[in-house]
Amino acid sequence: MKIEKGNKISIIGAGFVGSTTAYALLLEGIASEIVIVDINKDKAEAEAMDLSHGAAFLKPCNVKAGDYVDTKDSDIVIITAGVGQKPGETRLDIINKNLGVFKQIVPEVVKYNPDAILLVVSNPVDVLTYITYKLSGFPAERVIGSGTVLDTSRFKYELGEHFDIDPRNIHSYIIGEHGDSEIAAWSLTSIAGMSAEEYSTKVCEHCGPSLEFKKQIPEKVKNAAYEMIKKKGYTNYAVGLAVRRIVDAILRDEDAILTVSSLFTGQYGIDNIYLAIPTIVNRGGAKKILEVDLCEEEKEKLKASGDLLKSHLNEAGI
Ligand code: LAC
Repeated sequence: MKIEKGNKISIIGAGFVGSTTAYALLLEGIASEIVIVDINKDKAEAEAMDLSHGAAFLKPCNVKAGDYVDTKDSDIVIITAGVGQKPGETRLDIINKNLGVFKQIVPEVVKYNPDAILLVVSNPVDVLTYITYKLSGFPAERVIGSGTVLDTSRFKYELGEHFDIDPRNIHSYIIGEHGDSEIAAWSLTSIAGMSAEEYSTKVCEHCGPSLEFKKQIPEKVKNAAYEMIKKKGYTNYAVGLAVRRIVDAILRDEDAILTVSSLFTGQYGIDNIYLAIPTIVNRGGAKKILEVDLCEEEKEKLKASGDLLKSHLNEAGI
């Protein structure tokens, strides 16, 4: 089928996250070409075939399996390859397993896509985004991690459930590591201009005076993936939607504010590490970290999150 040339997106990794991301992008109709690469060629071919069979229900998009050469001149290369956490494993526990995979993948991606934006999703995403930045030699703005865009969505969902309001109308963020040291930025939370505490005590009729939710909800968000991995072995839908949201912001040049994982260059006294913080995302990639006004506790926790990731990078010899 002849399709007018539009955005080309390549996805490295045809596992649960990669294939679901491809599906989310197809539904969005944002790309005219999606190339799926996986070391397991049969898997990549079968995923591309299955996705292509939905063509009659979708905007035109040429979905195919291929090798790195077939990714040539992609606008965005999404990297989902590598092992996922097993039940009981933290995201940081799998650094060494995925470090080797990235040392193979990144040079091949760069060879055919010197001008692409690289969007890293594999875990531990902040560390692997830093590694991709180093291995690629690309400017930091063109190397982005999915960060805590997913966690922020989970946070909004849980707040929406707690307050009985539409999650889309809650402004709040999870920042720091996409992992156990992540931070709920309550000081940035706004519900119709009110803080979460104000909304809970002044508006929410069923909430009562307790602020216990401020402990419970961040814990639920932090532990969400562990619960799903224990029960179904992986997560895929919400992370696929989070990646689609980031791709939209890039390809539509939105100047959207998203908690992607960005390279800190001194913000909050943190340097030379990727962490998630509200960042302006547009066609150029991660254009600007917003050094938002965090409270002292949040700043300390963010610094601790960065130090934790740096210690794991050092342990991995990076
Ligand atoms: C999760 C995986 C993507 O949090 O890290 O679901």
